[in-house]
Amino acid sequence: MMRALLLMCAALAGVAQAAPKGDGKLFDPVASVVMSPRCINCHQVEAPHQKDIGIVHAQQVVRGADGHGSAVLHCAACHQASNSAQGRVPGAPNWHLAPLSMKWQGLDKKGVCQQMKDPKRNGNRKTGEQVIEHMKTDPLVLWAWNPGAQRTLPPMSHEDFIKALETWADAGMPCPQ
Ligand code: HEC
Ligand code: HEC
Repeated sequence: MMRALLLMCAALAGVAQAAPKGDGKLFDPVASVVMSPRCINCHQVEAPHQKDIGIVHAQQVVRGADGHGSAVLHCAACHQASNSAQGRVPGAPNWHLAPLSMKWQGLDKKGVCQQMKDPKRNGNRKTGEQVIEHMKTDPLVLWAWNPGAQRTLPPMSHEDFIKALETWADAGMPCPQ
């Protein structure tokens, strides 16, 4: 009732009906982490990227058939279950590239948002809770906050990242326009 009245007032005042408050902006803090180098370097197409500027991985490392590298040069040949060589070689269990469907390379904020909530492209995660769960617990995600060798961290703590994700999911996972 209240809402109907408000809408009527807006209509009478000739104000275009605005999107729900906050809306697409709720994805901004999420994007600031997801699109930071520690994450996006692994969500690439042909090969992983390195460093904060995201240069193509050295040693001619490529995606290979399953994201674990070529037949002769697997990720695991260098990347261990934890950071090694005084942190110079990053590591976490089952280190490999994100599947092609989950690529963020070349996408803008809106594109990443749409990918993350699309079950066809996000590993069949259907609810907000399922989408978030991975980012709460996955070792490859958690690695980003312990990347070794003084690599830059994502722009907020993991705890704040989860809070931002929950706020976004509770609002129905709105994407930037
Ligand atoms: C070492 C490589 C690697 C790093 C680093 C990495 N990811 Fe991923 N990511 C993967 C792989 C592999 C999968 C597929 C796993 C699955 O579907 O269970 C994945 C899947 C995902 C998914 C689920 C599907 C989707 O695209 O919506 C999300 C969300 C995600 N990663 C977020 C992140 C975030 C946030 C970070 C940084 C904090 C990050 N990843 C860092 C490799 C990586
Ligand atoms: C010949 C050894 C070697 C192989 C094989 C290898 N890597 Fe790496 N990788 C490294 C080293 C060393 C670094 C650290 C370089 C640096 O500090 O920027 C690195 C860095 C990375 C980074 C950058 C992390 C970041 O954000 O700074 C990613 C992502 C990555 N590797 C993914 C992979 C994936 C995925 C594979 C398999 C498809 C793979 N690597 C295969 C040696 C290797």
